[in-house]
Amino acid sequence: MVLLTVERRMKILFLVLAIFFTAATADYIPPPRLDGFVYNNPSSSFALQDTVLIEAYFDPLCPDSRDSWPPLKQALQHYGSSVSLLLHLLPLPYHDNAFVASRALHVVNNLNSSATFPLLEWLFKYQEKFSGAQTRELSRASIVEEIVKVTTQVLGSSYYNSIVKSFSDTTTEIQTRVSFKYAASRGVYGTPFFYVNGFLLPDIGEAIDYNAWRKVIDPLVAANKGTKNEDSIHFFL
Ligand SMILES: *[C@@H]1O[C@H](CO)[C@@H](O)[C@H](O)[C@H]1NC(C)=O
Repeated sequence: MVLLTVERRMKILFLVLAIFFTAATADYIPPPRLDGFVYNNPSSSFALQDTVLIEAYFDPLCPDSRDSWPPLKQALQHYGSSVSLLLHLLPLPYHDNAFVASRALHVVNNLNSSATFPLLEWLFKYQEKFSGAQTRELSRASIVEEIVKVTTQVLGSSYYNSIVKSFSDTTTEIQTRVSFKYAASRGVYGTPFFYVNGFLLPDIGEAIDYNAWRKVIDPLVAANKGTKNEDSIHFFL
């Protein structure tokens, strides 16, 4: 009799736990904040109405993403506050260690959002340390250790303990999963992908260089400036 009761209790406990964990895994969609890292403007929220919004989907260990960053950065510097960049991550399954490298960006962004793009540039520069044939024999633990080291270099050594903690904390894992899911939900299946004001940048069949960005963005910025004259202000008032 007593045994049966214990068994029943166990069953109920397992049932409750099963429900709890099922609910917990689905819990993080939608996320509390929009996915993405804002370039050069981490603290203030950008005014979507006033700027052309470029959304870039990068994999930090993807060579094509790496090659597309300098011309985009140059274009952003040219346009200043007329253009905003929101960077999303899509860790691709065929780039070794892309998930942990993407997670490192969330780790850094949580600790000091001014260091997110410096880390991205670091990862781009040393991609071959983390991906490809020469890393196949390395354990996952040693890759994480290496990425923690890099992250510490970018953030400063006083952050070491917070970084280690952040890599074992589920928050950053969930943030990285959300990045993946967000990209998938937007129909992004490779990197780099770019959206401009919500529309997919047409594929021009080659990496988009500085001049190509100018060709796409110049008319949009000009059109936005046009709406800022007196007449249209009256119109909106
Ligand atoms: C955050 O990162 C930026 C860029 O690397 C650096 O200049 C700044 O000192 C950092 N702030 C803190 C509090 O660590």
